[in-house]
This record gives sequence, structure tokens and C-alpha cells, in this order.
Amino acid sequence: MFSFNSLLVAAFTSAAVFVNSQTIPANCTRTYTVQSGDFCDKISAAQNVSTYQLATVNSGIINPECTNLFVGEVICLGLEGQDCTQVSVVTAGSDCNTIATAAGISFADLLNNNPNVDAQCTNIYGGEVLCVAAPVAN
Ligand SMILES: *[C@@H]1O[C@H](CO)[C@@H](O)[C@H](O)[C@H]1NC(C)=O
Ligand SMILES: *[C@@H]1O[C@H](CO)[C@@H](O)[C@H](O)[C@H]1NC(C)=O
Repeated sequence: MFSFNSLLVAAFTSAAVFVNSQTIPANCTRTYTVQSGDFCDKISAAQNVSTYQLATVNSGIINPECTNLFVGEVICLGLEGQDCTQVSVVTAGSDCNTIATAAGISFADLLNNNPNVDAQCTNIYGGEVLCVAAPVAN
């Protein structure tokens, strides 16, 4: 069966894949295909990516409010040499000292890992995903 409609769908699908593959950085180490019901912090928590990393790796693709995800979209989760996979999901009422202590890192390391968190750690929120990796030794 080769109908006009299936030709249209096939053309649209390959065009979408083509556009998408161009937006994935060449040094992307992990990708993810957006599923129905996803939102940025849900993807971050499930895939071990910090909220900050998901946003920066996909800047220009995912808007700052994360309202433009679509099912089937391929996004990048981490870049070579810059991929934090040790994360902690913030629970309501938690604070940076507690999170850092639980992860065995310092408050300063937690801030360094998550540049979106302010110096006093007053802007974290329940459901946010933070990178809690120990600093890489140089
Ligand atoms: C995320 O990290 C946890 C804890 O290390 C691990 O059990 C889980 O398999 C990881 N999930 C993915 C998708 O990498
Ligand atoms: C990965 O690619 C991006 C975009 O080309 C670039 O800005 C970044 O510096 C690269 N990172 C590494 C670790 O090579």
C-alpha cells in the first residue's frame, strides 16, 4: 500500500529527524527522545542530568521555560568532558547544606556544579535536579 498520505508522513518524519540531528552537538555523549508527558525536570531526574546541564546543553533548542518540548524530539543530555551524571533531586524544604552533606561534597562544590543556584542557595525548588559530583581532580 503506497498512498499519498503515507508519503506525506514519511516525508515529514524524515524532515523532522534531519532538522533534529543538526541541532545535536557533535560532542554529545548521550541523547534522549522526548516521550509523552515529559517535562524538563522529569527528564533530568530520570536520566541523571542536572536541571542546569539539560538547559545549557540544549540552549537554543529548549526554551528557558521548557514549554516547547515535543514527543519524538531528540535532545542531548551531556557533552563529552562536561557530563555530570551524579545527581540529586531536591525535595521540598531541603537545603544546600543537607544536599551537599548527603552527597559527601562541600557547599562550595555544590554551587560550582550548579551555576544556576545563587550564592546563598535560596533559589532551589522541590523537583530541581542538582549535580552532586565530587570535583574532578586536575
Ligand atoms: C541514574 O543513577 C542511578 C543511581 O546511580 C542509577 O541507578 C540509574 O540506573 C541511573 N539511570 C540512568 C538512566 O542512567
Ligand atoms: C562541545 O561542543 C560545543 C558546541 O560545539 C562546544 O561549545 C563545547 O566547547 C564542546 N565541549 C567539549 C568538551 O569539547
